Amino acid sequence: MLSTLIYSSQLGTGYLPDLDGLAEISRRNNARQDITGILLFDGESFFQILEGDEEAIDSLFDRIRMDKRHDSVVKIMSDHSPARKFGETGMRVLDIRSHNVMDEASLALRQALGTRLPPSDRVIKLIRAFVEGKWRAPNRGACDLPLHETAGAPAGQADGNSEDVPQQNGHCQFALQPIVDALGRHVSSYEALIRSPTGGPPAECFAGKAGDALYEFDLFSKKYAFELAARLGFKEKLSVNLLPMSLVKIPDATGRLDRYLSDYGLKPAQVVIEITEDEAITYYDEFSAALKRLRARGFGLAIDDFGAGFAGLSLLTRFQPEKIKIDRAIVTGIEQDGPRQAIVKAIVECCRSLGITTVAEGVETVEEWCWLQASGIDLFQGYLFAQPRIGAIPGIHWPTRS
Ligand SMILES: Cc1cc2nc3c(=O)[nH]c(=O)nc-3n(C[C@H](O)[C@H](O)[C@H](O)COP(=O)(O)O)c2cc1C
Repeated sequence: MLSTLIYSSQLGTGYLPDLDGLAEISRRNNARQDITGILLFDGESFFQILEGDEEAIDSLFDRIRMDKRHDSVVKIMSDHSPARKFGETGMRVLDIRSHNVMDEASLALRQALGTRLPPSDRVIKLIRAFVEGKWRAPNRGACDLPLHETAGAPAGQADGNSEDVPQQNGHCQFALQPIVDALGRHVSSYEALIRSPTGGPPAECFAGKAGDALYEFDLFSKKYAFELAARLGFKEKLSVNLLPMSLVKIPDATGRLDRYLSDYGLKPAQVVIEITEDEAITYYDEFSAALKRLRARGFGLAIDDFGAGFAGLSLLTRFQPEKIKIDRAIVTGIEQDGPRQAIVKAIVECCRSLGITTVAEGVETVEEWCWLQASGIDLFQGYLFAQPRIGAIPGIHWPTRS
């Protein structure tokens, strides 16, 4: 099957661009594999379109992405088409600084590329986006930071029971994971993550509960999260997850949350309620009334797992929380994934306009953090900084200059 792959990359630090050398090796190899395409260079970044048999393209891309002459390789498009768009076998290589590629209707560019694609073609639009600098890696300097461990609490401890904290009850317990400002090196808040009495995942806690009993348990369990915060003498904010339907179905849910807090000498202003998208939209009127009550009492609000379900944007049109937590499914491997990058950039832009703080969830690698930090995400949560720790505050790995 005919396959098209498009990626962008940045000239490797310390490498001089040798376009003639690249053109020669590419033409020779690609002709053998019946691969066509173009390679553009703008002085800093490459943009390559590869067309050919799917297997041949994938194996060439595997080779290219390991090439030390460039880095920050981002796959922008991988698609199939009935016919080639760039007929010339081998590889046409162009330094776009010497071509008037911004010419109206891209005529000059299309002539230079030897293609008859109309300006409305997606590939031509992607080329234009590259020419306009949209696929340059964001501020790479922010990423040159080694990770450094804080003194004090044991860093990155696994999600096990802390020895000095007794189990709280027979129903559930909570693990704490920090949400951090990585460059400012401070903890913005801790999320309390529910665990079963034996330390199992949330599903184990909720197993066998349905309908009102589920919502009742969901609400009541927050009491234990607040108890933990009080026991640990928390000064930071505490984030807790709440099913939207617990707010809708349980009479005076807000009042009960308030009472649980005051039992432990805590205030609503210390608590951020994280809400997942999906059910909220089905019962929006009741949900909206519950949100008003929460706000009136001073609770903070966040949309959790943003981008994981179908209702994220729809929910955002109706209510704007202080925080949006971008789902790990979008975050994982973002430094290599063009579509996810474009989506996150749009979320950052949108949240800036609306005054909403952005949090990236599930950050596990330095590369993910670097890309997200440089693109303007405010706060981070994930194993890179700290694993959740049951009944105790985990230590944190901070990025720092050596
Ligand atoms: C930006 C860039 C684009 C490249 N494009 C191609 C290409 O289209 N075809 C190719 O065979 N090698 C290309 N290369 C070179 C490959 O990474 C690799 O060096 C080469 O395929 C190795 O060939 P060999 O195994 O025959 O020595 C490119 C390298 C860079 C940095």
